[in-house]
Amino acid sequence: MSEASLPFNEKYCPSSVSVTSGEKRRQEWEKSIKNLQEFWAEKAKAIDWFKPFDKVLDDSNPPFYKWFAGGELNVSYNALDRHVKAHRKNKLAYIWEGEMGEVKTYTYYQLYREVNKLAKVFKDFGLKKGDRVAVFLPVIPELPITLLATARIGGIHAVVFSGFSAEALADRINDCGAKILVTADGSFRRGKPVAIKETADRALLTTTSVEKVIVVKRTGQPIQMKEGRDVWYDDVMTKAGANVYVEPEHMQSTDPLFILYTSGTTGKPKGVQHGTGGYLVWAYWTLKWAFNPSDEDIYWCVADIGWITGHTYNVYAPLSLGVTALLFEGTPDYPAQDRWWDIIERHGVTILYGTPTAVRMFMKFGEQWVLKHDLSSLRLLGTVGEPINPEAWRWYYRVVGKEKLPIIDTWWQTETGGFMIAPLSGIELTPLKPGSATLPLPAINADIYDEKGQSVGTGNKGLLVVKSPWPGMLQTLWKDPERFKQTYFGKWANIYCTGDYAIKDPDGYYWLLGRADEVLKVAGHRIGTVELESALVSHPAVSEAAVMGKEDSVKGEVPVAFVTLRSGFQPSDELRAELVKHIRTTIGPIATPDAIVIVNKLPKTRSGKIMRRILKAVLVGAPIGDVSTLEDDASVEDIKVTYEELRRQINKK
Ligand code: WT7
Repeated sequence: MSEASLPFNEKYCPSSVSVTSGEKRRQEWEKSIKNLQEFWAEKAKAIDWFKPFDKVLDDSNPPFYKWFAGGELNVSYNALDRHVKAHRKNKLAYIWEGEMGEVKTYTYYQLYREVNKLAKVFKDFGLKKGDRVAVFLPVIPELPITLLATARIGGIHAVVFSGFSAEALADRINDCGAKILVTADGSFRRGKPVAIKETADRALLTTTSVEKVIVVKRTGQPIQMKEGRDVWYDDVMTKAGANVYVEPEHMQSTDPLFILYTSGTTGKPKGVQHGTGGYLVWAYWTLKWAFNPSDEDIYWCVADIGWITGHTYNVYAPLSLGVTALLFEGTPDYPAQDRWWDIIERHGVTILYGTPTAVRMFMKFGEQWVLKHDLSSLRLLGTVGEPINPEAWRWYYRVVGKEKLPIIDTWWQTETGGFMIAPLSGIELTPLKPGSATLPLPAINADIYDEKGQSVGTGNKGLLVVKSPWPGMLQTLWKDPERFKQTYFGKWANIYCTGDYAIKDPDGYYWLLGRADEVLKVAGHRIGTVELESALVSHPAVSEAAVMGKEDSVKGEVPVAFVTLRSGFQPSDELRAELVKHIRTTIGPIATPDAIVIVNKLPKTRSGKIMRRILKAVLVGAPIGDVSTLEDDASVEDIKVTYEELRRQINKK
């Protein structure tokens, strides 16, 4: 935190790009806050509207804000048709590199052709405006094609990360009532095929809404095709005809574009719903402000399209700007630990948008892997998903950026649709500080509150809030407006509560300090501790469970589970392994706990509430503190003893 009080250090503002005062940005911000409506009316001109909007912001029913009310547009038209009609027709939209090293490219025209074909297929299957399409695919070109085809005919997509379990997929399909599922025969993980169609089949056993399953051939592994339900992607695309055109549906600006599920503080994931016009305008401007991509750039955002970063910054933002984006299916260290640097060198990547977890992993691998490659094409670096510690920031800056490239640390959330706090390179380069996401974007009226809703001012930790609506904000939670209101606006009326802690330094720079709620950030993935706890207690051996985050030098944070057993079950390595497997199959491998600690009793208050504070203290080796409200001090000893034992075991290996 000592960095917070440092004045701007010129060393971190690269000399190859002009060092600025940041004044222009401040002016833009002030202009936007002074007249939000006027500001956005002007910015919305960057998008093609079929019918102009009547009102920039309808705030008559907060917090259900309506952006660009009355306006009509289509997102696929903005991503494709308008480039095809103009000078970008033959420009590359995507360069795709598969896990196994295959490369495929799509010009804007080629992508447009594929999207029209799939839109026709969807129509022929009876998909109508407002119908949901579930998507369970690895990062292959068919994934953005599916999203754009859905948007073209007015459908709503719900992408489920392809690493999720059958149960997680089924929950999401059931919640949104998807009519069509697009999946693949398999995916690749470290060169090995993963049977995702089998996972989808298992999910479909407990869902009723899906009428058609469109299967992309990716791995060629043997799979079951259910008669009348399952069709091959290639077959239906061929049948659609090579040269079809599907009129893009005229969507209301406020019509939903997609649902994306994310973890919250209850066991049930939240269906974050994003709209059409506001979201697109926000996606367009945030990418332009932060990375300012031009026609010469090869822009690479490493995120999987299964997450919001992939939605906004691998699909909607780069395509609406007419950028050439690189899509990568695979793992950073397969087949070797220089995969990223090799990709950058071969494709001439100019903008790399990565994650702190990846940076910390590469730090461990050693700089020799980076230095093997010519990375001189790069001009900007980015990071997202969790706080980047100054040490990782410096490594990224020195080893990858050669002390010349700015690092754009973007703070945002699934709910915000796009960047909220970040350095910009577009208006002018924001002076940087290692470890700080710097300042709120134009039109973002951020603040830090204490529990009473008072602004904490400079140098004090509090809850990060946003005090005015912005175009990219979620519209609601799918079919759950009450939960939407409660979760984000429940603490203070009309104030969006982010759930993150933050602190502001004397220069007004924000330092993000992690989640304030029971949500973990494991390698940048958001995982609710309650989800893990529900998964654990659904196992016949488990009576109670409490999951905590533990600091990890690569993943930022990892889950550790404390469990008590039902009578008749004994602690054993086999049982621990089985519980780990149980979590992997009920949620997915990303939720794999670092350790399962079996205890006789959990520390509880006299009213029966689990004392997480105590568990945390045990985990970090801090003093236990005041335990006067404990019903039985012995349970703390149990946990300590068991955990120490486990630690010794881990250390032995
Ligand atoms: C949470 C949102 C944003 C897209 C990917 C994750 C944390 C995200 C940063 C950052 C510090 C960050 C926050 C936030 N977070 N980016 N640059 N610095 N923390 O989206 O899964 O919705 O997670 O990720 O805690 O609330 P998400």
